[in-house]
Amino acid sequence: ENESTVSITVVGASGDLAKKKIFPALFALYYEDCLPKHFTIYGYARSKMTDAELRNMVSKTLTCRIDKRENCSEKMDQFLKRCFYHSGQYDSEENFAQLDKKLKRHEGGRVSNRLFYLSIPPNIFVEAVKCASSSASSGNGWTRVIVEKPFGRDSESSAVLTKSLKQYLTEDQIFRIDHYLGKELVENLSVLRFANLIFEPLWTRQYIRNVQIIFSEDFGTEGRGGYFDNYGIIRDIMQNHLLQILALFAMETPVSLDAEDIRNEKTKLLSVCQVKVLRSMRPLRLEDVVIGQYKSHSKGGVTYPSYTDDKTVPKDSLTPTFAAAALFIDNARWDGVPFLMKAGKALHNKGAEIRVQFRHVPGNLYNRNFGTDLDRATNELVIRVQPDEAIFLKINNKVPGLGMRLDRSNLNLHYAARYSKEIPDAYERLLLDAIEGERRLFIRSDELDAAWALFTPVLKELEEKKIIPESYPYGSRGPVGAHYLAARYNVRWGDLDIEQ
Ligand code: BG6
Repeated sequence: ENESTVSITVVGASGDLAKKKIFPALFALYYEDCLPKHFTIYGYARSKMTDAELRNMVSKTLTCRIDKRENCSEKMDQFLKRCFYHSGQYDSEENFAQLDKKLKRHEGGRVSNRLFYLSIPPNIFVEAVKCASSSASSGNGWTRVIVEKPFGRDSESSAVLTKSLKQYLTEDQIFRIDHYLGKELVENLSVLRFANLIFEPLWTRQYIRNVQIIFSEDFGTEGRGGYFDNYGIIRDIMQNHLLQILALFAMETPVSLDAEDIRNEKTKLLSVCQVKVLRSMRPLRLEDVVIGQYKSHSKGGVTYPSYTDDKTVPKDSLTPTFAAAALFIDNARWDGVPFLMKAGKALHNKGAEIRVQFRHVPGNLYNRNFGTDLDRATNELVIRVQPDEAIFLKINNKVPGLGMRLDRSNLNLHYAARYSKEIPDAYERLLLDAIEGERRLFIRSDELDAAWALFTPVLKELEEKKIIPESYPYGSRGPVGAHYLAARYNVRWGDLDIEQ
């Protein structure tokens, strides 16, 4: 393998994602000696730029880990020397053929493996794939393409996209990224479930009362309105990131850790109830969805904008920037357990977490020691995906002393306290996996179909009936409708703010 080489082409090199995530992740991999000995990185975009200008642009985005300051600037220089730029149109076979020539020069006759990272808008995906595959595929090694969402905006458009991509690539060559799958605590979900005796037996309707999967951001869609308005929060966060977490959380035990075994289990779980197929997810209904949109709010002399203040968003837009949903899995394990999801922009805090609320202890001997709020006395497992990664389990214990007062405490795995190592960014893991051909954390096309089938009917209904989102002030906890929805299923949303 020493004599093979990998060429990584970032298509859309001057975009936000490339600058914020892809180049820094590639550098981190280089720093950690995870990239193959022979590699070349190409930025590809329309604007004219020299190699030096690209290096200058990239250099501004690179950082060194706190624990890895040694030789960092030297390493950066070495890394930048392996970065090049090629200017071309995304739909020009000729321009990709020119890239091919340049790549060949770098590859110097070795077995050449090629990875294309498409960091470009969806309307030019297919053209770029066509040109890259027909004019810049590897002649003697593998060619893989990483694509970013949106993968369509409903079942039909997603199917069209898949079909078009498959004209030029096999399923094996397509790496659909969901960067939440590369997050440390999301990866850890399976370890928690399957490498500990104490959780898996509890992972059923018998012990779990509800599961909450929560995403919140404390900033709006400023600057991204053009993209966001066509998608909305359900497509931007729920249908992919939160649903993937749900799938890993709730799937049956896979036969092995092989990519296909895990993706089979996720797909089986996500498939909406069809006559002959195993019953699993119940199609999401309109009455189980609450949507919201943020409105301007002034606080401490600062005025925060409304969603529709963005110039690229129509004034009468009904696009949700917040959504809450109750989902159900009609199988033996999860029958009747509400899985609540909540995702919102411009809220009061920033974070992502999974909360598992357990049932009451039947006939609890200590009921009277809890006062009236029995809900507060149930065990709860919290997996905080970000920020400040942690897993904690709320248990009841006696307050030390002569009396008999009960208290609630956390058994706590706090990553920063336990590990001094910085946690790698999700993109590092995913890029490395793509280079190594590990597909476990990428979305297979049938899995994507299942995810769309679950959300498409309700998305259509919201749009056809022109459902008006409930407004909520920028920086608030979101619309009250989310609380009513939860209350309908006897659930109270958890709140990290009041805990830590
Ligand atoms: C992206 C969404 O997929 O995820 C963005 O399009 C969102 O709207 C982002 O801000 C959140 O990612 P992270 O890793 O910052 O939580």
